[in-house]
Amino acid sequence: MHMNRRMFLAGTASAGAALAGLGFAQAGIRPLPLIPMTDLTGGIDSRIALNLAPGVHDFGNGASSATFGINNAYLGPVLRVKQGQTLPFDVTNGIGEVTTLHWHGLHIPGDVDGGPHQEIEPGQTWSPDVPIAQQASMNWFHSHTHGYTAQQTYKGLAGVMLIEDDASLSADLPKTYGVDDFTLVLQDKMFNGAGEMDYVVSGEVFEDGFTGETMVVNGAIAPVGQTVPSGLVRLRILNACNARFLTLSMATGPLNVIATEGGFLPSTVQTDTIIMSPGERYEVLVDMAAVESNSLMVQFEQEGLLSILGGLLGQGGGAVEILSLTRGGDTGFTGQMPNRLANLAPADRNAATRTRSFELNMGDGEELAALAANWGNVCGGGGMAINGQPMNMDRIDEEVRKGETEIWRISADDMEHPFHIHGCSFRILSQQAAEPPAYAQGWKDMVHVEDGWSEVLLRFDYDAPKDTPYMYHCHILEHEDCGMMGQFTVEA
Ligand code: C2O
Ligand code: CU
Ligand code: CU
Repeated sequence: MHMNRRMFLAGTASAGAALAGLGFAQAGIRPLPLIPMTDLTGGIDSRIALNLAPGVHDFGNGASSATFGINNAYLGPVLRVKQGQTLPFDVTNGIGEVTTLHWHGLHIPGDVDGGPHQEIEPGQTWSPDVPIAQQASMNWFHSHTHGYTAQQTYKGLAGVMLIEDDASLSADLPKTYGVDDFTLVLQDKMFNGAGEMDYVVSGEVFEDGFTGETMVVNGAIAPVGQTVPSGLVRLRILNACNARFLTLSMATGPLNVIATEGGFLPSTVQTDTIIMSPGERYEVLVDMAAVESNSLMVQFEQEGLLSILGGLLGQGGGAVEILSLTRGGDTGFTGQMPNRLANLAPADRNAATRTRSFELNMGDGEELAALAANWGNVCGGGGMAINGQPMNMDRIDEEVRKGETEIWRISADDMEHPFHIHGCSFRILSQQAAEPPAYAQGWKDMVHVEDGWSEVLLRFDYDAPKDTPYMYHCHILEHEDCGMMGQFTVEA
């Protein structure tokens, strides 16, 4: 179940917007933009400049949208790095307001994590040396500015970091960027009457999280198209929506899932659908030897009418095409569908020496409406909470011992929430009181939470002292900004 409150309150209010979204979709297929990739796996010989700046970007509808970008007009680069490297970043804030840049998914100490305590003032440069100890995995980076994460990330302060290791670099998998290996950043956007990207808050938006009716892939309005070689094609997918859960499927055949947020699965998992929350990453393989064309489809949660229209247009199961793959490109990967990918022991709950419990609390409508009226001065000021406490930068909520295995169990009093924990990858023991789907049984840093316990098994190996603690929070970014976040230390 992925219902939100607005669905009950205003079931058909978004009909016009839904139609507009489909109109765009019928207008034609845009080329898939390739996000510029910086490949550092061969070595790093200077500091890595990431320049955050305002930009102007055309999402493909001819309008000039005001955006933020990192070395680009919109979004950041794809950084390809290698386990064992230390990344010497120079993150320069040119956006004219305070910001931060958090490395989502990285196992790194709190002082370089880029959370709300590592503010970068306008015009300043933050220069963390970020050690990459973890295995091959798809990670990302985005604004984590206290009270402003939602609007800054939406505007474009987000990028992708692909970590490789010796095994992944020699693995029999597609890995030629832009040929048989594609990074996809999925977002939903709202466009105003002039076709410019829009972001508007209200009490309702704070309640449900911000959703738009138009899907965007790598900054281009969907559907987008790409010509690919015959053979296996790898899609590394990030849900970078502020609040929208996406149900992914293929037009033909199953999804072949090879990796979750923190690394490879033990073997390929075939599934008809993946339910992907904001913040989650999955890698899938598409077999383009078997079919001449195939499409990645998305079923919007919450939009009843759009689903129905999609169904009428023959788009399977109410799902909308977002990426069309057509055979006919260069020569690419010629190997087989992999069977064994990684060694991964089953998660053992008996390894835990301590259990902590978290309940995510929704704010009431009036409080949230008042917060929305003050937008621009929210500063995580409340409305939402965890265990009854709205986020407070001056309060440490949990103290964790480094190296100890724990179970964190999370539930919610209302709605479904994507829960994220900094500084680690974890294994899901249960999700919403059930066994997680097979494709979510690898290393994760996101878990879906509703009523019924979601339990994760985790351990922290790096320090996060009192002045640079780690965060745990809902990854509906408006919920996070409204206070559904807590902080914890990790010390020996
Ligand atoms: Cu993706 Cu604390 O964030
Ligand atoms: Cu994170
Ligand atoms: Cu939430």
